[in-house]
Order: sequence, then C-alpha cells, then structure tokens
Amino acid sequence: MKKKTIPSILAMKADGDRITALTSYDYPLTRIMDSCGVDIILVGDSVGVVVAGHETTLPVTMEEMIYHTRAVLRAQPRALVVADLPFLSYQISLDEARRNAGRLVKEGGAEAVKLEGGVNCAGTIRAITEMDIPVMGHIGLTPQSIHRMGGYKVQGREEEQAERLMDDARAVEEAGAFALVLEGIPRDLARRITAAAGIPTIGIGAGPHCDGQVLVIHDILGLCEKYSPKFVKKYVDLRPIITEAVTSYLDEVRSGEFPTKGHSFH
Ligand code: KIV
Repeated sequence: MKKKTIPSILAMKADGDRITALTSYDYPLTRIMDSCGVDIILVGDSVGVVVAGHETTLPVTMEEMIYHTRAVLRAQPRALVVADLPFLSYQISLDEARRNAGRLVKEGGAEAVKLEGGVNCAGTIRAITEMDIPVMGHIGLTPQSIHRMGGYKVQGREEEQAERLMDDARAVEEAGAFALVLEGIPRDLARRITAAAGIPTIGIGAGPHCDGQVLVIHDILGLCEKYSPKFVKKYVDLRPIITEAVTSYLDEVRSGEFPTKGHSFH
C-alpha cells in the first residue's frame, strides 16, 4: 500500500472515500494499526490523559509530544502522521508557534501538526502553513479550552454558537489548513460544516456526516478506566484480558510454575 500524504488525503474527500484516523503514542500500537491500513495517525495530546494519567491535556509539554512522535515514526507508518501542538506551544506568539511546529517536524518527524482553535487561531495557522508545514485544525469541543467550556460539553447546540463554529471552520480553511477535526458538536452542524468545507472534516463525537472519523486508541481497546464518552465505541475490552494474563503470571511465579527449564539457559 502507498504512503498516505496530504494530497492523497485531500483526494479521498474529492473521491467520497471515508477517512480513518486513530491516535497513537508508541511503536507497537503504531505497527499494529498501520498494518490494518489506517489513513491518519494522530499523536494526540490526549497522551497526557490516557497514558500519563493527567486529568486534562493541559500539562502536556513539547518534549513529551516530540518523544511520542518519534516513537510513532520509528514504526515507519504508511499512514500520514499528524502531531498535536500542546497547550502553550502556539498561543504566545507566531514565532513560538512556528518554532514549535517546526520542532514537531524536525525533531519528532511529524508530517503535519494539529492545533485547536478557529477564527482566533487563523493567523497562527497561516504562519505555520507559510513554512510549508501542513496544519490540521480542530474546533468544537477543544480539550485545551476545558476551563472556558466548564467541562467536556457538546458545543454549538444554540444557533448563535453554531454560526460561530461555521465561521471558525471557514477561517481555518481560509488560513490554509488541509483538514479539520470537528469534536463534540451536533451531527446536523457537522453535516453543514462538512458540506460547506473544501477540506476534509474528521469527526469525533460529531456524528456520521463527516468525511472521516478519529477515536482515541485506548478508548476503542477498553483501556480507559476513568471516563468513556457517549461517542466512543469500545471494539474490545482488553482490561479483563490483561488482568487475566498478569494474574496468571503472578500465580505461576508464586507457585514456582514459571519459569520452566524451557524458559531458562544451560
Ligand atoms: O488529542 C487527541 O487525541 C485529539 C483527538 C481526540 C482529536 O485531539
């Protein structure tokens, strides 16, 4: 299968092919999901919640994003790899935004970056795309804005808010983004944005009318203990499977059943 690139992702919208995306933060899961043929791998700042155990994505640093992006890239994925710009890496100035986007590409190996925001971030998106770094936008329920939103709440239910999100989508596209994540918005609004957009929309909790879908890998594997939003579908529950394997190992070490001669050297 051919390497996924920005032009091939754009062609998928033009051809009406639905785009698949998943988050990944490490080498082994990237190897597996890439062999399944996922189109886009997002090294999301959700790593801070699902891997590092933080309550929000706000504490995630550039160093952590670079570390995880490198691990994903070592798997040499065929999928397009997009890395998140973490909180405070692009909000202070255009220079910092450009430098940090460049670091994700130069040090992490990312092929594109993602940042959260609409009209308010259009200048930042333009500044980064002018460096020839492709940008994926992200509007609606934007986790880095958790304190403004007062929690992880669906956005755009009121008509005025919906119109603002339509403006955000337009601004992100006009600023040069190649794709747009729509998170936590009503499905009819996602349908309107998708119909109006010339770039692919990738939904998460935004219903079936987007050009593609993204989910957090730990959510679909049943590895998130704390919190499971309504929009998540758990395709397998790995928790009891891992629990059984770990318990068997502990029992066998305690009983002396493991290791056997076969697991040891002369
Ligand atoms: O950080 C992340 O994983 C994300 C996706 C959920 C869109 O931004």
